[in-house]
Amino acid sequence: MTDSVPKEITLPSGYKIPTIGLGVYQNARCAQAVTAALKHGYTHVDSARAYGNEQQVGVGIKAAGVDRSTLFITSKVYMTDFDDTESAVVDSIKKLKYGLEGKREPLGSSDYYDLYLLHSPHGGPAKRLRAWRGLLEAKKKGLIKTAGVSNFGVRHLEELREAGLEQPAVNQLELHPLDQQREIVEYCKKNNIVLQAYSPLIRFNFSQDKNGVIQSVADKLQKTVPQVLIRWSLQHDFVPLPKSEHEERIKANMEVYGWEIPAEEMARLDALDIGDAGAVCWVPVHEP
Ligand SMILES: NC(=O)c1ccc[n+]([C@@H]2O[C@H](COP(=O)([O-])OP(=O)(O)OC[C@H]3O[C@@H](n4cnc5c(N)ncnc54)[C@H](OP(=O)(O)O)[C@@H]3O)[C@@H](O)[C@H]2O)c1
Repeated sequence: MTDSVPKEITLPSGYKIPTIGLGVYQNARCAQAVTAALKHGYTHVDSARAYGNEQQVGVGIKAAGVDRSTLFITSKVYMTDFDDTESAVVDSIKKLKYGLEGKREPLGSSDYYDLYLLHSPHGGPAKRLRAWRGLLEAKKKGLIKTAGVSNFGVRHLEELREAGLEQPAVNQLELHPLDQQREIVEYCKKNNIVLQAYSPLIRFNFSQDKNGVIQSVADKLQKTVPQVLIRWSLQHDFVPLPKSEHEERIKANMEVYGWEIPAEEMARLDALDIGDAGAVCWVPVHEP
């Protein structure tokens, strides 16, 4: 059966991004999870400086024996490093390289991140612009292939546009049926900014789905709840980043291609949106 959802899509930067990535936030078994994910067909991992596991991502890739150049690896710079994002990128690359090769230096052309994001819009306009300029500089130097942002609202993206700067290729947001962030999603789709969906499994907390709609869709389709949530994300053209520490779950979370959530079930899931009240992480899109 041909699938309406591709396994990878082309970013505005010209590079291809696999449509599912393994999230590794608060992943106590990060290296093992990465190794398991690569074994089960993942080629995309989402890390961050703030997660403290960029090196462990490298360890996991090495243990899997997979060629790093076939993978799509992301990291993010946290606001505490916004005054010198380029140095933060270099440090992130060294950490990944140390995990991969057991050495930090010298950096060569095979040492890079596929995608690197400003983790959030915190810090105000001047700091944001400085941070974004630093990331574009890192891209110019080949340290990162694609530059993007996370948790940016419309005003933050407009700020970059008004400053005449290159637009981010990606905006990574909390996105799932309970929190659909419609205003910023519409803006990104209109401006060809790819949306990555974090916390796509609602952190496995379904207390706000009071009528058990997600479970009932899963029962009807004979799929698991995580599979339905990941497929919902894909059918909205998002790039979901499910996190798990368990191999069997990591494997099952990838079994989401080759079947569809029918339109009427998509509509039931879409109707669950309760905006910010549905967020399970943080809500930085309204930052001044
Ligand atoms: N940019 C940002 O500000 C930001 C913020 C939050 C997250 N993120 C990214 O998005 C990724 C995912 O988000 P998240 O970690 O917040 O949460 P999530 O992926 O929505 O949910 C993870 C939870 O679901 C459980 N789980 C996963 N698969 C399962 C399955 N098949 N059956 C039962 N339980 C399952 C996991 O448990 P086990 O691990 O025990 O299996 C974990 O408790 C993060 O890891 C990170 O990479 C980015």
